[in-house]
Amino acid sequence: MAYITPHNQAPRGAFANTVLMPGDPLRSKYIAENFLDAAELVNNVRGVQGYTGYYKGKRVSVMASGMGMPAIGIYSQELFQFYDVTSVIRIGSCGSLDRDLHIRDLIIAQGACTDSNYADQYRLPGTFCPIGSWRLLRAAADEAAARGLNFKVGNVLSSDHFYNDSRSTLDWTRMGVLGVEMEAAALYCNAARLKKDALCILTVSDSLVGGEPETSPEERERTFTDMVEVALTIAD
Ligand code: HPA
Repeated sequence: MAYITPHNQAPRGAFANTVLMPGDPLRSKYIAENFLDAAELVNNVRGVQGYTGYYKGKRVSVMASGMGMPAIGIYSQELFQFYDVTSVIRIGSCGSLDRDLHIRDLIIAQGACTDSNYADQYRLPGTFCPIGSWRLLRAAADEAAARGLNFKVGNVLSSDHFYNDSRSTLDWTRMGVLGVEMEAAALYCNAARLKKDALCILTVSDSLVGGEPETSPEERERTFTDMVEVALTIAD
């Protein structure tokens, strides 16, 4: 039988209302195996592993987004449009652009500035401002605060360039942008266009503005766990 989309072999109904999206397929597998009960692999086209299982009795899915806006653009659009997914929560990493944000801190992306032309497709007579879902944003901030995590809520930069020849990324700090990653703006555009909810939660994995101490793998894993648990707790 033909797949529903070119990139997803899951049958209709195979995804829960909320899908968590790490960039890395191996992280998707790790979350399914370590945080979900009765997780089943529902997609593995191009190794973009997607699972549906249960977190504390609540049905929830996790699927990789791949790296960059073209990739998350495809996968999130298909989840929203063809699988009736209502919320996508990206859980990723970012580089800090803020001197007060250190490795392992969290950023909850209220807005996503971008150097990409992803939103050109909407032919708007100005600049669209991609923002996260207020419902998910408020829930994530409340949950992160209740857990005593170090986090900030604000703008991030979704960039097309991990290696930027112009070295202009730091210019965004002048506008108070907290961190740089590569996916949130496209995810927020898709959610806006399709009237869905999306949020991006990030752990700071490196800093572009300050000398940072090395962290141990154990510490990195603990932060990752905090982020995953916040996302799973606010999923509905
Ligand atoms: N740039 C873009 N994406 C990232 C970075 C970065 O420095 N760190 C983690 N994700």
